[in-house]
Amino acid sequence: MSLFNPLTLRGVTLPNRIAVSPMCQYSCDNGFANDWHLVHLGSRAVGGAGLVFTEAAAVAPEGRISPEDLGIWDDKHAEALAPIVRFLKTQGSIPGIQLAHAGRKASTHRPWEGNDAVLPEQGGWTDVWAPSPIPFSADYVSPKELDRAGIDRIVKAFTDSAARSAGAGFEVVEIHAAHGYLLHEFLSPLSNKRADEYGGNSENRARMLKRVVSAVRERIPELALFVRLSVTDWVEGGLTVEESVEVARIAKQAGADLIDCSSGGSVPNASIPVGAGYQTPFAERIRREASVPTGAVGLITGPEQADHIIRTGQADIVLLAREMLRDPYWPLHAAEELNVKMSWPVQYLRAASKGSTARHGLTELED
Ligand SMILES: Cc1cc2nc3c(=O)[nH]c(=O)nc-3n(C[C@H](O)[C@H](O)[C@H](O)COP(=O)(O)O)c2cc1C
Repeated sequence: MSLFNPLTLRGVTLPNRIAVSPMCQYSCDNGFANDWHLVHLGSRAVGGAGLVFTEAAAVAPEGRISPEDLGIWDDKHAEALAPIVRFLKTQGSIPGIQLAHAGRKASTHRPWEGNDAVLPEQGGWTDVWAPSPIPFSADYVSPKELDRAGIDRIVKAFTDSAARSAGAGFEVVEIHAAHGYLLHEFLSPLSNKRADEYGGNSENRARMLKRVVSAVRERIPELALFVRLSVTDWVEGGLTVEESVEVARIAKQAGADLIDCSSGGSVPNASIPVGAGYQTPFAERIRREASVPTGAVGLITGPEQADHIIRTGQADIVLLAREMLRDPYWPLHAAEELNVKMSWPVQYLRAASKGSTARHGLTELED
């Protein structure tokens, strides 16, 4: 198996193992995708990524990280995404959407405008929800504890959003249960202090995710369903890799096809040993111990590195984020470096080889 082999998950075949990792663009008005998203996601499909994920799309307005987040809580959001999805498919990419609820990390500024709460008079909101009423930090809104009706409402928001995503033409749906957002808040003992059946031991803390995954699976039986986990909180007393193996088993049982293995985000002060491929061992371990396909993400930048992850069975796909921002054509360049034949878009064929491609007696610089 190598980076450029296809992968079939449920009814969906990715043409290669390279995915554009979900990346918030903080560029929407009221949750609507716009020209920026078409060009941004479209370029990465032109660049040859087998799977192109949208950024986190909020399943409810109060579940946005910032007021400028992408949304999928209304049918009209799906209508705005549909032409983008169509374009990704014309380029041979599989379109994916990440469904998210920000929980206690909602209503914050977009990164280039600050790191704290957006006040209601600035377009923010105080209707912020979490498993327990504990703020992420003193700079964030203090969340309210979800009651059972609130939990049911959120499960429904995820399933309705998944159905809308299928309607827009997406073929992969990823449930965001990482990075300190709502579903991770339930999983982590640092943010979940509940005394009911959603808190306490790890099985109880996984109950919310299990409900969301099974309900979403039921609504979208044909689509590939991924779950992104923060496999460790990187702090004493937080979620552990051992627990995450169990969570992965539960998610698989509930209908997930792949576990996308990230880490961190539940507390502001974790000390994370960031370095090349630093999260890949989590993908390897979850794959082996929970017997489920996995995605590796985090400082994967080189073609040889990415290919090695797949060849050695550490993960089934790689997800690249920042490197894809640096080079939208990373997959085409990686194929060249790994000596794999990959078709360039016909419009770009004259740049595919650095050799001369004289045509009609002109050099490639004329026309
Ligand atoms: C601009 C930006 C926005 C991001 N937004 C999201 C997001 O919406 N959902 C998510 O799960 N991760 C998000 N991430 C995290 C990435 O998907 C990825 O996990 C992380 O950047 C590590 O991969 P990298 O080293 O290839 O950048 C974001 C990262 C960046 C740089």
